[in-house]
Amino acid sequence: MPTYSIVIHGGAVTMDPSKMTPDLEAVIREGLQQALQAGWEVLNGGGSALNAVEATVRTLENNEHFNAGRGSSLNIQGEVEMDASIMDGRTLRAGAVNSVRYVRNPITLARTVMEKCKHVYISAEGAVEFALQHGLEMEAVHYFETEKARKEWLEIIQQEEKEPQGHDTVGAVALDQDGNLAVATSTGGIEGQLKGRVGDSPIIGGGSYAVNEACAVSCTGDGEVIMRGALAHEVYALVKYKGLSAPEACREALKLRDEDLKGDKGFIAIDKDGHVAIESNTNIMRCAYRIGEAEPFVAVWHEELDKQA
Ligand code: GLY
Repeated sequence: MPTYSIVIHGGAVTMDPSKMTPDLEAVIREGLQQALQAGWEVLNGGGSALNAVEATVRTLENNEHFNAGRGSSLNIQGEVEMDASIMDGRTLRAGAVNSVRYVRNPITLARTVMEKCKHVYISAEGAVEFALQHGLEMEAVHYFETEKARKEWLEIIQQEEKEPQGHDTVGAVALDQDGNLAVATSTGGIEGQLKGRVGDSPIIGGGSYAVNEACAVSCTGDGEVIMRGALAHEVYALVKYKGLSAPEACREALKLRDEDLKGDKGFIAIDKDGHVAIESNTNIMRCAYRIGEAEPFVAVWHEELDKQA
């Protein structure tokens, strides 16, 4: 049986390096460490991969320095609309929500859909009503809207072209002591996105996919590109049908139809044999992993991954 392990991300993005100030880098590293610890403690205590990925993503959603939950980017109308999905590799059950407001932890809402509902996917007001019916924690809009998100939104609406910008996401994949795999992914989407726009994160096979017999994958990057490539499913298919390890599959999926699928792309994955993978074509890849009781690894810059390899 491979050792239990967890890999997490806080978003892959191509960014002007000068915007990553030492203070920002420090809070991101600390946030990644805390979120990794939350999931790792579940696994270390014999808990399920599903509980581990939910605990990690909840921690990232509660941290205003990541674009999910509190700290989500604002759409073109200056509102937070959040997407999330979760999948259990043991049963292939999945839950997803999009364009959700007021719900403190969209990932827990996705899990509640998975466990308490005959559907897999609920959107917008329907998802918020479902959250209320199931007693999930709710917050007023100002809880989600940070000063940083408001400032970025103002910059976008003052541009003539009103181009949507950043697209960070958070996610986690885990392998537990019983050999079960799970994935969770959550995002506030793209800064300045159209109201109602849905990215890859809530799409099963787009931003998230997990099957015990192959791997668990969470994607980050340009949602439009990732969903057109069904990239989480692509990584799974490369593991399942081509016999690749998770790192090999992520590297190959990153190159899929590169001319047609241009954009920022990042993956985290764990395969059934316990190989962990982190790949991106961006200079920033906020990520962390821990295998069993080995020391945790945390990175913000892609080059840290290259040095480690
Ligand atoms: N990858 C997150 C999004 O595009 O919404």
